[in-house]
Amino acid sequence: MNPGIESISMYIPRYGLDLHDLARARNVDYAKYHQGIGQEYMAVPAPDEDVVTLGTNAARQALQNVDRSEIRTVIFATESGVDQSKAAAIYAHKLLGLPANCRTVEMKQACCSSTSALHFGLSTVAMHPEQKVLIIAADIARYGLGSAGEPTQGGGAVAMVLSADAKILRIDPHVGYYTEDVMDFWRPNYRDEALVDGKYSIKVYLNALENAWKHYKDDSGAGFADFAHFCYHLPFSRMGLKAHLHLARHENAGLGAKELQAQVEPSLAYNRRIGNAYTASLYMGLLSLLETGPKNLTGKRVGLFSYGSGCMGAFFGGKVIEGYRQHLHTRLHQDLLDNRQNLTLAEYEDFYNHVLPATGETYRTDRHRTGSFRLAGIENHQRLYEPVPSMRIMAADAAEARVAAPAV
Ligand code: CAA
Repeated sequence: MNPGIESISMYIPRYGLDLHDLARARNVDYAKYHQGIGQEYMAVPAPDEDVVTLGTNAARQALQNVDRSEIRTVIFATESGVDQSKAAAIYAHKLLGLPANCRTVEMKQACCSSTSALHFGLSTVAMHPEQKVLIIAADIARYGLGSAGEPTQGGGAVAMVLSADAKILRIDPHVGYYTEDVMDFWRPNYRDEALVDGKYSIKVYLNALENAWKHYKDDSGAGFADFAHFCYHLPFSRMGLKAHLHLARHENAGLGAKELQAQVEPSLAYNRRIGNAYTASLYMGLLSLLETGPKNLTGKRVGLFSYGSGCMGAFFGGKVIEGYRQHLHTRLHQDLLDNRQNLTLAEYEDFYNHVLPATGETYRTDRHRTGSFRLAGIENHQRLYEPVPSMRIMAADAAEARVAAPAV
């Protein structure tokens, strides 16, 4: 058996904000965002997108070469859920046309529930190797206009199909865990934006890394030198580098700055251009490594650290499988990153301030650029989703390309 990731894809909003524009508006030196935090661009979801549409758009692609009748479990990991009772997985299940004999559930523990979803999914696959599990991780990171966290906002989704016949990454059975009750970042039910003690959150992240790593080492017998590359949860890209240098120091890894940087740098490229996507961030980092890193990673071992504020950390590893490149959607992901519509600051603030009515009255969301699924509106307190014909997506992309083309 080769349990692990058979298929993986990401989806990001079709709009974004260049952090040059944010720096100018907030009177901050751009170098702070670019060098200090490591961010260039922020994904901004449109008013007709939410975690259901982001996640379902990612899943549609991840399922492209998978027999949907084999999916028996859908786990939706998010901390930006749309309902306190009904799982986002059920909306996704319907939009994706998955079989009725399917287990569907939503999971929460800040940014790391996607990793618990992955491990729960792998336990299912170990018990029932004929079944496949769909994991969807989708989030929208909101900290507030003008807040310290604003340049680290973002959003998007990653979907993965797990099976006993992994084609991309075989996941090792050992996981190192660490849990501690801390208040570094949380979002009470009555708030749309997280409450965060940013500097403290970095400290507890590093402490969770150290302790999860120690547990992992004791449990697995593996060490730092067993990994060619590392991927970390990325609230912002500099955090990945900070975490790696911290771990290397702690382990007396004996590698120079350049070697350490090369172990982590390829995983940071997508985050720099997307921002935080909470549950999806670590797996966008993995995609970034696989799609923008060294051309041949076959047989290389990758260490992954997942962090969820509050807090829980998990360290685990995997081995890249021969032929993995032909199962990636690299071109599609590059297109998503390269063909986004730049918002002006005023447009970004309008998108940010858009709220759905909480009265349950019938409401239709304006149509914006989206993927293959959008939030059409609300009726009787019920969210209405609809597929978007691909002709309409192509027409919007073509119109955007015309606007972006330089005048001749
Ligand atoms: N040129 C270059 N660098 C500059 C600079 C300039 N002009 N001005 C400042 N910097 C550097 C600083 O030296 C600092 O670098 P170091 O971290 O290496 O010291 C860096 O830029 C950031 O500067 P500040 O610490 O002064 O920035 P800040 O007070 O605005 O806060 C932040 C930064 C804490 C990351 C904030 O953006 C934030 O709160 N973000 C949200 C919370 C978060 O991301 N926490 C991370 C861990 S928690 C987690 O992982 C869960 C999750 O997803 C939220």
